[in-house]
Amino acid sequence: MRDISYAGKRVVLTGGFSGIGAALIEVLRELGADDITVLDLKEPTARIERFITTDMGNPVSIDAAASTIGDGVDVLFNNAGIAATRPAEQVMRVNILGLKRLTERLLPGMKAGGAIVNTASTAGNQWPGNLEVIRKLLAIQGWDEGVAWIHDQMPVIADGYFFSKQCVQVYTMMLSRPAIRQGVRVNSICPSPVDTPLLPDFRATMTDKIIDWAIAEGAGRVATPRDQAKALAFLGSDLASYVNGVNLLVDGGFTAAMTTGQVDMSALAG
Ligand SMILES: NC(=O)c1ccc[n+]([C@@H]2O[C@H](COP(=O)([O-])OP(=O)(O)OC[C@H]3O[C@@H](n4cnc5c(N)ncnc54)[C@H](O)[C@@H]3O)[C@@H](O)[C@H]2O)c1
Repeated sequence: MRDISYAGKRVVLTGGFSGIGAALIEVLRELGADDITVLDLKEPTARIERFITTDMGNPVSIDAAASTIGDGVDVLFNNAGIAATRPAEQVMRVNILGLKRLTERLLPGMKAGGAIVNTASTAGNQWPGNLEVIRKLLAIQGWDEGVAWIHDQMPVIADGYFFSKQCVQVYTMMLSRPAIRQGVRVNSICPSPVDTPLLPDFRATMTDKIIDWAIAEGAGRVATPRDQAKALAFLGSDLASYVNGVNLLVDGGFTAAMTTGQVDMSALAG
């Protein structure tokens, strides 16, 4: 079946050095990808066609990468992200301001039939409670204005991680409408805990108890980077040709169990 093939597609991926991004490179290769550009602080060891050293928290670095890439991208995977072991402003810069800036730089030149897939998180599932404030941030155009707004909103933003992932989920839905007018779909995956180099950071900020509980109450095993990469590859491919504006839960059923009252909350007590 040709719809899953990445042969001849120009793919751009942020955060391809480790974890989900590194697994995605492997999966895309298996699906025939022959033109992968990675933007990251660190160069992946996997074979890729192009590496551009990029700090996704720095607008100058992002703009330079975008102009090197130019027009004609088929699929953009916005995957780079950091945990709240880093300062909240930095988390917001990398996880949402940088993701949005790169997207805005590349989208106008993307090919019809293309796709953008963001790596969000189940940590962003509580976005409905913050929708109005998130819309305000997403409406800000300038980088410095965005950073200033973040400083003004610290009580809502808190440690930055949950709020930044709420913003990614809302941005995915908001962008899906204008983007489809040029034939580009926009979706995200929302992973629960994944066994990557970032997981110890989440254990440090959210506690072992909460992470182990979320794993036990989901599929009963931690997600592998490849579990997530396969979902990313699906959303970026023509298999998902009519899927647009969806935040796809890739959480082993954790959110479904939570929503239907089947999760054992007593394990969190004490
Ligand atoms: N691991 C989990 O439990 C989990 C759960 C939900 C969502 N996520 C999300 O998955 C995505 C990938 O994370 P991961 O778990 O694979 O962790 P990871 O640390 O292995 O991967 C993150 C990648 O982003 C790169 N990166 C970090 N800061 C960067 C910057 N400033 N500029 C450019 N690149 C940068 C890293 O070098 C790395 O390649 C992140 O957006 C993360 O928030 C992870």
